[in-house]
Amino acid sequence: MNVVHVQNPGRDYRLVLGQEPKPAPGPGQVLISVAAAGLNNADLLQARGHYPPPPGASPILGMEVSGTIVELGANVSGWTVGDPVCALLPGGGYAQFAVADAGSLLPVPDTIDRIEAAGLPEAAFTAWTNIMDTGRLAPGESLLIHGGTSGIGSLAIQIFAALGHTVFTTAGSDGKCTAARGLGAARAINYQKEDFVAVVKEETGGKGVDVILDMVGGDYVQRNIEAAAVWGRIVNIAYQKASKAEVNFAPVLTKRLTLAATTLRGRTPEQKRAIRDVLLARIWPLLGSRIKPVIAQAFPLAQAQKAHELMAKTGHIGKILLQMP
Ligand SMILES: NC(=O)c1ccc[n+]([C@@H]2O[C@H](COP(=O)([O-])OP(=O)(O)OC[C@H]3O[C@@H](n4cnc5c(N)ncnc54)[C@H](OP(=O)(O)O)[C@@H]3O)[C@@H](O)[C@H]2O)c1
Repeated sequence: MNVVHVQNPGRDYRLVLGQEPKPAPGPGQVLISVAAAGLNNADLLQARGHYPPPPGASPILGMEVSGTIVELGANVSGWTVGDPVCALLPGGGYAQFAVADAGSLLPVPDTIDRIEAAGLPEAAFTAWTNIMDTGRLAPGESLLIHGGTSGIGSLAIQIFAALGHTVFTTAGSDGKCTAARGLGAARAINYQKEDFVAVVKEETGGKGVDVILDMVGGDYVQRNIEAAAVWGRIVNIAYQKASKAEVNFAPVLTKRLTLAATTLRGRTPEQKRAIRDVLLARIWPLLGSRIKPVIAQAFPLAQAQKAHELMAKTGHIGKILLQMP
């Protein structure tokens, strides 16, 4: 089968087409004929040699795909050959065929394009588990999502606006802020021009926000503490600016804040299945009407290098995909 290989892993890596044997699904797994694979920042890190796949996962890049089930492994029920699906993977997505745990599969409804569905799993799983499980966002509470037009942010805004929350977001240009408002953000803050702490305080009558999803880190660690409401929860999913910061923790104590950070990829299949079940019940019924994948661009598999270069520039809005021939 066609796959993408990483040549010269490291800072100057190159992505090239190669061949690998078609994988076989083990017990509890299915084989998917891949229609498209979603790009994630972790793929860039892995190609640079900084983020190895978890033990047992395919060394091929790619943590999410859409496609059609072509084979069922032992002990798989509830799925049939021919079902259109999208799936969260621990690896192996940049390929013609990919193996997925049945517990990480989600159906692709008729209202969603089968290629575009490749942009759903990673963002949906990440946004949900970090904001709801770790961030404990409660009905009526407000939310600040940094990186609002990122792959994760563009879906997260739609999900939590659709569930009735007031969503604030940050992005690095006026164009990105306009896009974020179109996705349902009550206020999109261009961090190049405005201080998100001051804006969020003003918008909430001085109270601050209840939950913050952050992928930036660095000086945002302190500023998030300032922007948070009493009993607020701040969840980091990345430290794109810096993972080191000088922080005054006194307001964490006085405001009774929770600071947390999690990763998704290394979680067990059972933990991913639990998130999948909630997404299926609460978010999948809203797909096509209130929530859609936002796709920046789809590249042919052979142009994976170009796709990575686009992602590295961070000018995109939404997800970047690789489409099978
Ligand atoms: N922990 C987990 O389980 C988990 C799971 C999935 C993803 N992630 C991480 O979450 C992040 C988002 O993933 P993605 O795939 O959605 O990435 P993406 O589409 O490439 O988006 C990254 C966003 O980060 C913003 N950004 C980058 N550097 C920034 C800075 N210095 N200050 C402010 N904003 C900055 C950019 O927005 P602007 O142009 O507006 O600056 C860009 O939209 C990545 O770092 C990824 O590794 C973590």
